[in-house]
Amino acid sequence: MVFLYRLALLTTAGVMAAGGGAMAQQAQPSMAPGAPSAVAHPEMWPKLPLKLRRDPAVEARVQGMLSRMSVEDKVGQLLQVDIASITPADLETYKLGSILNGGNSAPNNDEFAPAAAWLKLFDAFWDASVKRSDGRPVVPLIWGTDAVHGANNIVGATLFPHNIGLGAMRDPELIRRIGAATAAETAATGIDWSFAPTVAVVQDDRWGRTYESYSEDPAIVESYAGKMVEGVQGTVGADFMKPGHVISSIKHFLGDGGTGGRDQGDTRVSEEVLRDVHAAGYRSGLVAGALTVMPSFSSWNGTKMTGSKSLLTDVLKQRMGFDGFTIGDWNAHGQVPGCTNEDCAAAINAGLDMFMYSGPGWKQLYANTLREAKDGTIPAARLDDAVRRILRVKVLAGTFDAGRPSSRPTSGRFALLGAPEHRAIARQAVRQSLVLLKNNGGVLPLKPGANILVAGRGADDIGQQAGGWSITWQGTGVTNANFPNGQSIWSGIDEAVRAGGGKATLAVDGRYAAKPDVAVVVFGETPYAEFTGDRPTLEYSPDDKADLALLKRLKAAGIPVVAVFLSGRPMWVNPELNAADAFVAAFLPGTEGGGVADVLVAGADGRARHDFHGKLSFSWPKRLDQFVLNRRDPAYDPLFPIGYGLTYARPATVPVLSEARPAVSASDQNALFVRGRIVAGARLDVAGPVQQTRVDRAAQEDSLRFAFAGGGMASAAVEQARAIDVTREANGQLSVLVDYRVTAAPTAAVTLGMEGGKRVDVPIAGALKGAIGEWRQLAVPLRCFADGGVTMDKVTKPWIVATDGRLGIDISSVRIASAPPGPVSCGMR
Ligand code: BGC
Ligand code: BGC
Repeated sequence: MVFLYRLALLTTAGVMAAGGGAMAQQAQPSMAPGAPSAVAHPEMWPKLPLKLRRDPAVEARVQGMLSRMSVEDKVGQLLQVDIASITPADLETYKLGSILNGGNSAPNNDEFAPAAAWLKLFDAFWDASVKRSDGRPVVPLIWGTDAVHGANNIVGATLFPHNIGLGAMRDPELIRRIGAATAAETAATGIDWSFAPTVAVVQDDRWGRTYESYSEDPAIVESYAGKMVEGVQGTVGADFMKPGHVISSIKHFLGDGGTGGRDQGDTRVSEEVLRDVHAAGYRSGLVAGALTVMPSFSSWNGTKMTGSKSLLTDVLKQRMGFDGFTIGDWNAHGQVPGCTNEDCAAAINAGLDMFMYSGPGWKQLYANTLREAKDGTIPAARLDDAVRRILRVKVLAGTFDAGRPSSRPTSGRFALLGAPEHRAIARQAVRQSLVLLKNNGGVLPLKPGANILVAGRGADDIGQQAGGWSITWQGTGVTNANFPNGQSIWSGIDEAVRAGGGKATLAVDGRYAAKPDVAVVVFGETPYAEFTGDRPTLEYSPDDKADLALLKRLKAAGIPVVAVFLSGRPMWVNPELNAADAFVAAFLPGTEGGGVADVLVAGADGRARHDFHGKLSFSWPKRLDQFVLNRRDPAYDPLFPIGYGLTYARPATVPVLSEARPAVSASDQNALFVRGRIVAGARLDVAGPVQQTRVDRAAQEDSLRFAFAGGGMASAAVEQARAIDVTREANGQLSVLVDYRVTAAPTAAVTLGMEGGKRVDVPIAGALKGAIGEWRQLAVPLRCFADGGVTMDKVTKPWIVATDGRLGIDISSVRIASAPPGPVSCGMR
C-alpha cells in the first residue's frame, strides 16, 4: 500500500494526485471549497483480495434457512438489544439476532459479577432464543461485547495495553497473540463476538478515543488490523473460528479518527484522504476475514456514516467485497436524519444490517421495522440481503453447531481469565510499549541497591493504569481489589527491587523520612471513555498542578526524579518534562504493571534487564495547541516526532523546554463552567436576594462566589442561549459535578436544579453541611433530572443553585462527567 500512502501525502499537501487519472478527476468536486461531497466514487477504492471466499455449501445452508423464515423472523435478526433492556423471557416471543452488553451493562446489573454469572445469563438467553415449535428455522442468538483490550468487562481478565501503547511496539506478531488471548478469555464466558479492533487513524489527539487508536499513521494501523482480526477469529484456512475464537468487528467505519477531536463529529476530508488515511485498517482487516464491521457514529462531509449508502453498500460491500454484516453503533441509527432510535428504515436501506439498540423501546423498533418490511419501505431484497449476511456469519462462526454456551469446549474454563500465559503476553506488551522520552544523566535504569521512593497518584492504582473500558465503561469506580490478577506499577517495582536485593518505599504524596537516592513519580490522566475524554487542548491537567508540584518538590530536594506518565494520548507536558530527569510515556498499560519495572529496574548486577523498545506511534506536541500534528503536515513541528524513543543503548539529552502557554480559544463541550468562564452561548442568571462576585482558586477570579442572604427564594443559574442535548450523557450514567467550597453554612434547604421543559430540583444541603472553607466535589446523577421529567435533549438551564435561606458558596467548576467512586444519590437533604 505504499502507493496509496504516497497519494495521501500528495493530496494533503494540496496537490491533486496525478496517479489517480480519471478517478482523481471525478473526485475533484469533493475538494471544492465549502461544498465537500459525501458521495463516494466506488471505482476509486481498492478491490480487496479477501481470504474468505464464498463457500457454496455455506450459501446453500443459509438460503435453505432464509427461504423458510417468516418476515417476523427476518426482522428479528436485524435487532441487537442491550442486556440492560431485555430479559431472557422476551426472547421466547421475539427471536432477535443478538444481544450485547454495553460498557455499563452486566448480569444482574452487577459490573463485578463473576464470570460464571455471565455464562449463566448467556445460557438463559440462548435457551429462550432456540425455543420454538412452529417448524421454522431455529437461529441462535450471538452475544457481542467490547473486548477492546482484553476481555475487559470481566473481573479477573488480563487487560492488555490500550491500542495507543500497542502502536508503540511496532510488533504485528505480538498483536496476533494478544488477539488470540483476548478471544480465549472472552470465549471462556461463552460470549462469541467482540467489537474490536478499533482501527481509527486518529488525527486530532483531543479526541477522547485517541487511546483506542494504534497510530496516527495509516501504515501502522494497516500492519496491525489484519493481525488482530486473525488473532481474534483465527486464520482463514487454519484455525478460523475454531473453539476459543470469537467474531471480530472492525470499527468505526469510516473516518472516526478524523473528526477534529470531537466524539461523533464530522470528518471533513477529500475522498482520497478518507480512503488512504482512514481506511487503512479495513484493507488488512477485511482481507483477514473480519466477519462484522461497525459503522461509525461520525459523519463524512456532513453525512452520518450509519446512513451512508454510498460508503456502506457501494464501497464497503460492493467494491471492497465485504460479505459479513454491519452492526450499528449504540443507537447510532437514531442520529440519521429522519430517524429515531425506535424507527430507522433509512439506515437499513443504506446498508446497515443489524441495529444496536439500548433503551426501553426495542419492541417499537421491532414493530416499526416489521411494518416497513411489510409495506416495502424496506425492499424485500434488502431485507433478505441483511438477513443472509447475518446467517452467513452465524454459519461461519459455528453458531448453529456450537450448542448451549456452557456446553462449548472452551466456555466455563474460567482459569483462562488472567491465565499466566496471557499475563506473560501482556507483560511483554507493556515492556515493549514504554517510550523513553528523556533520560538525562542516565538516571535510568534504577539500581536495585538504591533507596528508591515510589510516589504519585498513579503508582498503586490499577484502574488508572488500565484506563477506560476496564470493568466499567468509563473505567471509573474501581479499586485494585477489582483486578484480582492485576499488578500495580508500584507492586512491580517493589518486586523487582527486592529481587535485586534492595528496597523501595511507596508514598503516594512523596513524603519520606530518609532522603531517597532516586524517586519514581507515576501520574497522569484518570480514566475516561468516548466523549467524556474530549479535551479543549492537549495540556496535561490544566486545573490541577499537584503532580507537577510533587516533581518539583522532589527535584528541589536534590533527588533525581523519574516520571512515569500514564495517558491516553500525547500531551503537552513541557513543565513536567523539565521537572523530571527521566520521563517515560507508559500510555495505558493495563493490568500488568510489572512490565514497567522489567525495563526501569536493573538486575542485581546493576545492568538493565530489558532495554526500551517502544517508538512513538503518535507525534508528541511542542505546544499545547498542536492538536493536529502528523508527519504528513507540511509544517510538521513536533517536540518528539513519530518514531521517537530513546534507549539505554542510544541515549540523548533533552534540553530545557519552553513552558509558555499560549491562550487558546477552544471549547470544552463537557464543561458548563470552568476556569472562570461560562461556556460560549450561555449566561449567568442570578435572581432574588443573592450577591455574586468572583474569587481565586487556581487563577485570578476563576471562581464564582455567591452570598445568599435569606429571607426569600434566590437562585444562581446558567442559562443556555440554545438548548443543549445531554441525552447521551444521561444514558451514559454521567453526573453533574460541582467543585465548590462552602464559606457560610446553609440555614435552609438548598437545591441543585436543571431545567428543560420542566425544572427538577435535587436537595443538596446535606452535602454542604460538612467542613467550611474546604474545596469539595458534589455529584448529582443526570438520571435524577431525567427521571424527574426534564427533557434531556432540550436543556435550557443545566444548573441552578437555589435556596431561601442563607448560604455562602464558591463554585470553581461545573462539568458533566462520570462521578468518582462512592455512592451518588438524587437527594442529599
Ligand atoms: C461505542 C462502540 C461500542 C458500543 C457498544 C458505542 O458507544 O462507540 O465503540 O462498541 O458503544 O458498547
Ligand atoms: C457506550 C456503552 C455504554 C453506554 C452507557 C454508550 O455510549 O458506548 O458501551 O454502556 O453508553 O450507558
